Amino acid sequence: MRSSQYKESYLQKINIKQSIKHWGKIIFAGVPQAWSGRLKKIYRAGLRYYYSQKDLNFCRNQFNADRARFERHAPCFVPARSDPYGPWDRQQFRSVMTIEYHRLEKGLALPEPRPGFGLDTVVKLPVMVDKYIEKFGFDDLANICLSVLEQYFQFNQDRQIANPELEAWIGKTNRIHGHIRGELQTGGSHPFTKQELVESTRLDLSGFFASRHSIRNFTNNSVSLDLISQAVQMAQFTPSVCNRQAARISVLHTAEDKEKALSYQNGNRGFGHTADKVLVISSNLKSYNSVGERNQCWIDGGMFAMSLVYALHSLGLGTCCLNWCVENDVDRSFKQELSIPDSDAIAMLILVGYMPDKIQVATSRRKHLEEVLFVHN
Ligand SMILES: Cc1cc2nc3c(=O)[nH]c(=O)nc-3n(C[C@H](O)[C@H](O)[C@H](O)COP(=O)(O)O)c2cc1C
Repeated sequence: MRSSQYKESYLQKINIKQSIKHWGKIIFAGVPQAWSGRLKKIYRAGLRYYYSQKDLNFCRNQFNADRARFERHAPCFVPARSDPYGPWDRQQFRSVMTIEYHRLEKGLALPEPRPGFGLDTVVKLPVMVDKYIEKFGFDDLANICLSVLEQYFQFNQDRQIANPELEAWIGKTNRIHGHIRGELQTGGSHPFTKQELVESTRLDLSGFFASRHSIRNFTNNSVSLDLISQAVQMAQFTPSVCNRQAARISVLHTAEDKEKALSYQNGNRGFGHTADKVLVISSNLKSYNSVGERNQCWIDGGMFAMSLVYALHSLGLGTCCLNWCVENDVDRSFKQELSIPDSDAIAMLILVGYMPDKIQVATSRRKHLEEVLFVHN
């Protein structure tokens, strides 16, 4: 349902209310004066109840659809049969392995890692990696797990803690896959100095933050896909839950796709069509592995979007975030039309383009500091 159709259904709702009012008048026309006041009250209370139940049911259906979508994609809901890893697709498998390897990475990055920590992960992860390699081959993720386990093993060995099973697994995996490891990303932990941090942050970013505004007026100059890729790479440094990196960016750049996308969104009238690109920011629900993580997609998608907006700003591009406050049927048809997977939870759209030399921007005054900052005693 597009925004124009929304308006129609809204008008229909008003019509229903008006016609009930109209019928109320007719029904009560013949009722004696002494009764009509009381009956009208009952009639109105009945109507109010009917509408509140209708809205409540509608709301429940929306939440149910969200729940069903989470259950369709989150690996924790994929039924475990005899082989607990069997039914997962590559993305689901990767998410669960990332949770596990990152536990070890985090442990190794503590001020004083406890020798022998994370034993349950150390038992589980090699089995998972073997299954994963069997199903999808040795790739960057298998390699990251291998390096993390190697570093973990070394850490313990240096503290006189032996783990012969892990040693044997590392030896075997290295013999089979070691030769391509050099080409792939590695994991574990690495040193980082305060000096590095200080040197890279000798910038006053307050002016940079203050100069970003939502741009609602773009030139017809085209933004290269290289520039978009550069901004996305910058935004990839955004933290994400257990480093699962669930964010996905879909770039819409043909006139047809942009028009289609914007027709589903209710806040771009009068300016959306001037943007050169429309980005769809979403999070892959296959990245989340427990009920507690059911809302994590909004955090990961939102944080990635913010970094991306600043990255695009730093490259001289104008942006305007667009809400994705839509009901499930709108979300579904949007995804179908624009080939966005059902497993993606859309956080927002972002318009991107070059701005003209001079424009008006909305002032969008910020709240006073005391309204947002609460220092607890
Ligand atoms: C998630 C999100 C959704 C937004 N949706 C819209 C929208 O649909 N239409 C619009 O014109 N602006 C939209 N905005 C822009 C806000 O109005 C704007 O960020 C806010 O007023 C602050 O102004 P500034 O971005 O210029 O600092 C959205 C912003 C965010 C973060």
